[in-house]
Amino acid sequence: MDEAVIRQRVEAAGQAHVFERWDDLDAAQREALLGQLAALDFDALARRIELIQAKSEPPPPPEPLDPSEPDPAQRAEWAKLGEEALAAGRVAVIVVAGGQGTRLGWSGPKGTYPVGPVSDKSLFQLFAEQLRALGQRAGREIPLYVMTSRLNRDQTADFFAEHGDFGLAAGQVRYLVQGDLPNVDLAGKLVFSAPGELATSPNGHGGTVLALHEGGALAAMREAGQDLLFYWQVDNPLCQIADPVFIGGHLALGAQASTKVVEKTDPGEKVGLLGVRDGKVTVLEYSEITPEQAAERNDAGQLRFRAGNIAVHLFDREFLASLVEGDFALPYHLARKKVAILGADGQPTQPEAPNVIKFETFIFDLLPLAATHLTLQVAREEEFEPLKNAEGPYSPATVKGALDARARRWLEQAGHAPPGGVTCEVSPLVALGPADLSELSSLPEPGDRGLHVELP
Ligand code: UD1
Repeated sequence: MDEAVIRQRVEAAGQAHVFERWDDLDAAQREALLGQLAALDFDALARRIELIQAKSEPPPPPEPLDPSEPDPAQRAEWAKLGEEALAAGRVAVIVVAGGQGTRLGWSGPKGTYPVGPVSDKSLFQLFAEQLRALGQRAGREIPLYVMTSRLNRDQTADFFAEHGDFGLAAGQVRYLVQGDLPNVDLAGKLVFSAPGELATSPNGHGGTVLALHEGGALAAMREAGQDLLFYWQVDNPLCQIADPVFIGGHLALGAQASTKVVEKTDPGEKVGLLGVRDGKVTVLEYSEITPEQAAERNDAGQLRFRAGNIAVHLFDREFLASLVEGDFALPYHLARKKVAILGADGQPTQPEAPNVIKFETFIFDLLPLAATHLTLQVAREEEFEPLKNAEGPYSPATVKGALDARARRWLEQAGHAPPGGVTCEVSPLVALGPADLSELSSLPEPGDRGLHVELP
């Protein structure tokens, strides 16, 4: 696209200010800016900018949702169905790891953070080892897609490569890069992060769907006969990847999308909730229900709104494909943030109040589009403790504590007695649950850091 056409479009979009400092740019910076502008969908940008001022209609009132809690017989049935699907090679998995992890204050991609309470294994290593163990049981490799942002793609792929992909097979890990969206100031004007460089940010985990399509994953899955995609977030090391019970439940119900939840017991906990609006399953962010609603209880004394979203999903490939082939657009969510951008004088600013709007789409906005949806309740202490903050709740201390407590519980359930006061860890290569530990003849001697049950 030549410069004149780009300038025309930019002007028509009311963004002519982006050329104000053109004369200060060198040739490479000019080329880069033109490239960014040529790739910009100005119609979509205009729709997003309209949202800044838009007075949204109040949405229909949310209703609570009672999740499925299968009894042991049903669990066993579902597990069998799920294991058959895994053995038949129907399942691929995706971990979304494109977030910026600013709250944690870790400079690398979040998946590189060492969370193993004894081993210091990273989130990525724990996930890769789970997949190796699952693959051995299924008798086939389970393909892993890692979705990153443009910013952390290379660091992520280098980390896997430096560690020999943690023993996964050649070609088993594939990377998808999510899209970026330009940031705007509070008046809806494009802003610069550096001379000639428009400030952008990743398009949210809702970007997964387009990344799967544009990165060729949906086509590759179709060719390989994989009709199910298990989805989880990089921050939760307790996630039971491709859990057969979940897969089996999804298949038994004929669902197009499924979600795991944990029971919310503290009305003040800041967790998204599965609920129902307009007869459709949806995720309600904690700001969307009133404190009174959050505290309502049913006859059994449970919170009425208690289906806490742990962001673990299963999607039918065809459901995802039908969305991207059709006229598909997830709603945008706006976040007002403090971002160091260039001021009108071209110099960096240090904002003291939110000065920039970021736009994101969310994966769970797909849920109301699914004809049938399974909401499966699981035990929090077994499956959910995400790493989000440097301190306090959902921090390295609580995540390591949850992994330690789960390892100890599994060992005890399998009839072992780890010494009190010693930190425990079980390698996913040894066990994915307590049943796998029953054949362990004895526990290893604890080392300085604690007791680590790993392969010899
Ligand atoms: C999210 C959910 C919340 C849920 C909680 C469970 C939202 C808005 N809310 O909260 O309902 O209870 O998780 O842990 O998501 N990511 C990308 N690309 C992006 C943005 C994020 O890949 O552009 C990934 C991150 O790497 C991370 C995940 O998405 O793995 C979650 O993002 P985050 O912003 O941390 O979500 P939360 O607000 O914690």
